[in-house]
Amino acid sequence: MRMWLVVGLGIVLGLATLAQAQDVGDVPMGEIGDPQAGFEYAHAVCAACHAISQEKTPNPKAPRFKDVANTPGMTPTALKVWLQNANHPTMPNIMIRGQELRNLTAYILSLKD
Ligand code: HEC
Repeated sequence: MRMWLVVGLGIVLGLATLAQAQDVGDVPMGEIGDPQAGFEYAHAVCAACHAISQEKTPNPKAPRFKDVANTPGMTPTALKVWLQNANHPTMPNIMIRGQELRNLTAYILSLKD
């Protein structure tokens, strides 16, 4: 039962990744995460401070993810590096790795205007 759920989820995520790939340009396929999963993760973990779907930032010092995405020169690599080394001042270090990192990156950059 559980197994099928995992397989089904994998297929859905795979399709979402394919659909997304065109928007992200020259990034290799394997590097691209699922923005929907990234959204869910961000909603659970980051929304306490950063604006996710809401316009107002809960913590005024935390930039909106939309603004992060629109930072000039922001690339998937730059964002990943930042997230991996993230030393959030107001928070015990959040360590984001692997697929989570790819998903979050895909999600945040999908907010770019
Ligand atoms: C406890 C509050 C808090 C939480 C939770 C939090 N952040 Fe932050 N974040 C901040 C603050 C405050 C800043 C601005 C200070 C700084 O840049 O060092 C920041 C900065 C950032 C930046 C840098 C923006 C830039 O312009 O350089 C990114 C990217 C970011 N956060 C991503 C995340 C992600 C992804 C999560 C969830 C996994 C998260 N944050 C969770 C408070 C938080």
